[in-house]
Amino acid sequence: MRIIAIVNQKGGCGKTTTAVNLGGCLADDGRRVLLVDLDPQAHSTLALGCNPDDLDENLYEVLTEPDGVQRMEEVIVNVGENLDIAPSGIVLSALEQRLASEPIETRTERLSTALDQLPGDTYEYVLIDCPPNVGLLTFNALRAASEVIVPLETSFFAIHGVEKLLETIGLLAERIGHELTVRVLPTLYDGRTRYARQTLAKIRERFKEMCFDTVIRSNVKLREAAGSGRPIVRYAKSANGAIDYGALAAEVEALGLAEQAATLGAALDESATPREVIVRYRDSTASDVRIAGDFNGWVPDKGVRSLIETEGQTRVWTKILQLPPGTYAYRYVVDGEWREDPDNPDVVSSESGGRSSLLVVR
Ligand SMILES: Nc1ncnc2c1ncn2[C@@H]1O[C@H](COP(=O)(O)OP(=O)(O)O)[C@@H](O)[C@H]1O
Ligand SMILES: [Mg+2]
Repeated sequence: MRIIAIVNQKGGCGKTTTAVNLGGCLADDGRRVLLVDLDPQAHSTLALGCNPDDLDENLYEVLTEPDGVQRMEEVIVNVGENLDIAPSGIVLSALEQRLASEPIETRTERLSTALDQLPGDTYEYVLIDCPPNVGLLTFNALRAASEVIVPLETSFFAIHGVEKLLETIGLLAERIGHELTVRVLPTLYDGRTRYARQTLAKIRERFKEMCFDTVIRSNVKLREAAGSGRPIVRYAKSANGAIDYGALAAEVEALGLAEQAATLGAALDESATPREVIVRYRDSTASDVRIAGDFNGWVPDKGVRSLIETEGQTRVWTKILQLPPGTYAYRYVVDGEWREDPDNPDVVSSESGGRSSLLVVR
C-alpha cells in the first residue's frame, strides 16, 4: 500500500484537484484507491459526489473517538469502481482543539494507526488530500505517508513559499524518524504565456529530479468535472486534464516500480556483499605459508590478510579472506610447495592432476 500525502500550505494550488484526479486515473487503471479527505472544507468529498452534510460519520470520529481508529472502514464510502473516499466534514476544523490535551505523539499518529487497521490488501494507493496549512491534520498525513506530492502553481511566488514547506517536511521527517520521498508537481500551467514557460524552467532547475516530468495544464474541464462530482477520466476522458492526470498516474506507477527495483537491487547487493572468511594452517616446521585460489587468480596471498601466531611448538597461519557468497577452490603454498588443506575434508581434483580444497561461502 503506497500512502501519498498531497501537501502545500497554499490554497488553490491544485491539491484537491490532484487528489481526486490522480486517484481517478489510478482507479481507472484498475488500482484500488482510497482518497482520505483531511481538509475540513471537504472539497475532495464534494468533488467525488458525496455531500458531507448527508453523512452521519466522517474522519472526525476516526481521529477523535477512543475506538475511532478501528472504525475507518465504517466511514469509508465507495464513489466509483476501485475508488473509495474517507470523507471529511467541517467538524474536522475542531480537531486541533479536541485533541489539545493528548500527547503530541498520539495526536499525530491517529491517521497512521487507522490506516494500519485496514485489511492488508484493500488498497494499493491511499491519497491524502491535506488542508492549506501545516497543522495537526497535515502532520497526521505526513506521519502516515511515505511519499509526498507538492502541487506547485507555476508562478514565481509559489516557488518561494514551497522552499519553506520542504524544509518543514524535512524537519518533521527527521523528528519522527521516517523517510519521505517528496516530489513537486507543476500545476495550473498555461504554456501560451512566456512567463509560465520561464517559471516552469525555473521550477525544473530548482527542484531537478524532485520535479515530476508531468506538468498539469490549466484546463477548465477539471473545474467542470469537480462540479459534476466525478474525476475527469469519468467526465471528459479526452480533455487535457484527463491526459495530464493520466500521465501523472503513469509516472507515479513507474516511480513505484523503479523503487521496487531499487529495493530488490539493494537486496541483491546485500547478498553479493563479501563475507569475512577465516582459514587456518598449522605447522611446526614451515617458515612461509600462503594461500592461493580461484578467488585471487591463484596468486599466493594476493588480497589476503595474514596473521602468524604460535600454539606451543606449532605455528598457526591465519588467513583472512573477503569473499562474496560462492564456492571456491584453494591450496596452501608451504615453503614454495603447493598442498591441499589438511584440515578440510572437502577436496576436488583439478585438471592438472593436483587436488584443491573446497570452500563454500554463504
Ligand atoms: N489544472 C487546472 N486547471 C483549471 N483549474 C484548476 C486546475 N487545478 C485546479 N483548478 C481549480 O483551481 C481551484 C483550486 O484548486 P484546488 O485543487 O481546489 O486547490 P487546493 O486544494 O490546493 O486548494 C479549483 O477551483 C480547481 O477546480
Ligand atoms: Mg483543497
